[in-house]
Amino acid sequence: MSFQDEKLKNIFWLRPAYQKNSWGAKWRLLYKTSLALATNILLLLLFVLIVSFLAFLGWIYVVNHSSISYENALKFFNKSTKSIPPPLPPLEYPLDCIAWDQSKTCTNNYPTTYKPSNRDRSSNPTCPDYFRWIHEDLKPWKVTGITRDMVERARETAHFRLVILYGKVYVEKFRESIQTRALFTIWGIVQLVRLYPGKLPDLELMFDCDDRPVIPSKDYRGPNARPPALFRYCSDWWSLDIVFPDWSFWGWAEANINPWRNILKDIKEGNEKVKWKDREPYAYWKGNPHVAPWRGDLMTCNPTDKDDWNTRLFIQDWNEEEKKGFIHSNLADQCTYRYKIYIEGHGWSVSEKYVFACDSPVLLMTPRFHDFFIRGMVPQRHYWPVRDGDKCRSLKFAVEYGNNHTQKAEAIGAAGSHFIHEDMKMEYVFDYIFHLLNEYAKLLKFKPIIPPNSQEICAEALACPTDGKGRKFKEESLEKSPSNSIPCKLPPPYDLQALKAFNDEKFKLTKEVEKWESEYWDKLSKNP
Ligand SMILES: *[C@@H]1O[C@H](CO)[C@@H](O)[C@H](O)[C@H]1NC(C)=O
Ligand SMILES: *[C@@H]1O[C@H](CO)[C@@H](O)[C@H](O)[C@H]1NC(C)=O
Repeated sequence: MSFQDEKLKNIFWLRPAYQKNSWGAKWRLLYKTSLALATNILLLLLFVLIVSFLAFLGWIYVVNHSSISYENALKFFNKSTKSIPPPLPPLEYPLDCIAWDQSKTCTNNYPTTYKPSNRDRSSNPTCPDYFRWIHEDLKPWKVTGITRDMVERARETAHFRLVILYGKVYVEKFRESIQTRALFTIWGIVQLVRLYPGKLPDLELMFDCDDRPVIPSKDYRGPNARPPALFRYCSDWWSLDIVFPDWSFWGWAEANINPWRNILKDIKEGNEKVKWKDREPYAYWKGNPHVAPWRGDLMTCNPTDKDDWNTRLFIQDWNEEEKKGFIHSNLADQCTYRYKIYIEGHGWSVSEKYVFACDSPVLLMTPRFHDFFIRGMVPQRHYWPVRDGDKCRSLKFAVEYGNNHTQKAEAIGAAGSHFIHEDMKMEYVFDYIFHLLNEYAKLLKFKPIIPPNSQEICAEALACPTDGKGRKFKEESLEKSPSNSIPCKLPPPYDLQALKAFNDEKFKLTKEVEKWESEYWDKLSKNP
């Protein structure tokens, strides 16, 4: 296998399927069979119960009315459905900074339990497919569970420990994170608790807010591996770090990037302004080229007198932008090019979700790191793959191909954007964290405790002492009332065959593009 192919295989993350020992799979099969048996028995019991209940109802009816007809039966159900009152509008709970400023403690005036009015499980949608990676990310602990020792060993690089106990949140801070990453991440979890009060399990976790994964999978092979359990914003093929949505979903104060819910709306409006076909027919990128060598390399693809690689690349100077009040970095105004380039920074890049939101096909430069959603995306369907080993020629081909096949290009842009606007709307981001934490908590082998050096955290504790942009974003991303519905249904894990098929398909679709690209350049070199 060539180096490029090896890398491709790796990014499609076939870890479970490639693992030599298959004890996990056998165990799962056994578990699945017994689960299926148990479910069948339960269903049978339930059926018997319902039938007897209906018979009982019918019997009362016969006694009272001495005639049982179809109409009467209908009336009975009509009456019973009519008696359910319409749901009340939810009460809102804004920040209570007056109370907090007086006592500097959480007053806990927010409800601790709540019955959503929309509790119908059958009409409840199944979560998008990328949620299935939750199972993959937690697989290293599937058999052993997670012991206190595994959590404590993650402390070495963690910025904080977070505990949820009886619905309350406690944080033990170890060290400062970059900018306000930790603060906004904790804020996000507090919002989740407000959204689903009383629904989160007791748990204890370690969180590392830095860019790159640190738990190498090669050190933890086999059934007795016992890797540390550490949460962070991205991982890669070689690492076991558990991926968690990044802080910017609740706003990135230092870069003036609004909370996700608002920015999605803005970008959607921005998209309407210039139709895809009327956009500049080039590949656009704007960012900081100094954070990683491959970004510097990308800048060499800017047009010169000699070559035009069909790109328009711009340097984002955050310091300069900050002075000017970020007037040139409005993300909603960055949807005026037909193609958008995504390239990683030092780790995964926060920019990814914004780049995808524009209705313009994303030219995705072979990445190494993955965040929580990218593994659900498929080349040629949601994005167009470009080689990081041959950036300029790959980009030139991609743009030319797209301009020759506008229908296909427009469809890829639309599909990628739909994924971002629908499957990753804020409700689903919360549901992702909800299920991730739930599945994680199921694996815990110990009872979480309130850490001695911790503080109880509520929305007020995080927001009231702050001001400026950070405060504004928190007010905007505050969940003011419990959710009216229950979380989406978590889809089951991939079985090994399905996972392998999914990843093989992605590999095949990428290789296909690479083949077209090579043919194009071969032809050009033969007839210049
Ligand atoms: C059910 O109730 C509605 C409204 O009260 C009524 O119009 C309808 O005829 C009823 N249907 C039956 C089958 O009783
Ligand atoms: C695009 O179309 C032109 C004209 O038909 C052709 O010469 C060129 O090779 C095509 N390029 C790609 C990348 O398909």
